[in-house]
Amino acid sequence: MIASGRVAVNGKVVTTLGAKADPDKDIITIDGKQIDATQDKIYILLNKPAGYTSTRFDRFAEHTVMEIVDEVQGYLYPVGRLDKDASGALLLTNDGELANMLTHPSYEVEKTYEVTVNGRITRDALDRLSRGVELDDGPTAPATVRLLSYSPRENTSRVEITIHEGRKRQVKRMFQAVGHRVVKLVRTRFGTLDIKDLPEGEHRYLTKKEVAKLRKLALRKANKADEEAGGSS
Ligand code: URA
Repeated sequence: MIASGRVAVNGKVVTTLGAKADPDKDIITIDGKQIDATQDKIYILLNKPAGYTSTRFDRFAEHTVMEIVDEVQGYLYPVGRLDKDASGALLLTNDGELANMLTHPSYEVEKTYEVTVNGRITRDALDRLSRGVELDDGPTAPATVRLLSYSPRENTSRVEITIHEGRKRQVKRMFQAVGHRVVKLVRTRFGTLDIKDLPEGEHRYLTKKEVAKLRKLALRKANKADEEAGGSS
C-alpha cells in the first residue's frame, strides 16, 4: 500500500479543518492504521536525499524515508509529496490534524523549490510560470518565480519557484509545459521551515516555536480559504 496520510475519525475521512477528535474515545486512523492519539506529538524536519520514497511503507520502494528516521519512536508519516528523485525539506509527524491542515488542497502552504532545468530559460517562460500554466489536470495558480543562474557550460538554468499547490509532479510538469525538463529538484522551504542549516540526509526535531509558527500559518491559510469560499459562521 502506498501511504497518503489520509486521516479518519471513527471511520470517517477528515476533510475539514475544524474536525476534532477526542483521543480518549475516538478511533483515529491514518491510512487505515489505528494510531494512539494520546502519544506525544513528534515533528521532524528531514532534508530528504534523492533516491528515497516519501511514504511510510511501499513494498515496491527500494528505500523509504522511514529508514532514515528509524530510531524515532512513534507512528510518523511524511506530510505531502516529494518525488523519489527530489531532495529537500520533508516534514514527518504523527500529528494528523496539523498534517491535514498543511496539505489541504484549498489552503496548502507555500513550498519553495530550487529547480535545475535543461536549456536557457527565457523571460517569457518565467512569466508564464508565474502567471500559471495549463496542465492536464487544470491550470496552475500564480507562482513566484525567479531566475537564479544560467550555466553555459552545462546549458542548464537554475530557477527558484514558490507554489502553494501540491499536485502530483507539479513542478516538473509546469516546467515541461514551458518546454524545459527538470534535471534536479530541491525543496528548500516548506511553509515556515527551511533546510538552510540541515545537511542532506540529516533530520532534526522542530522546536516548540517552529511548531507553533507552522500551526499559525496553517490556520491563517484555512481562514483565508474560508473567507474566499464566502465566509464561514
Ligand atoms: N513537484 C514535483 O514535480 N515533484 C515534487 O516532488 C514536488 C513538486
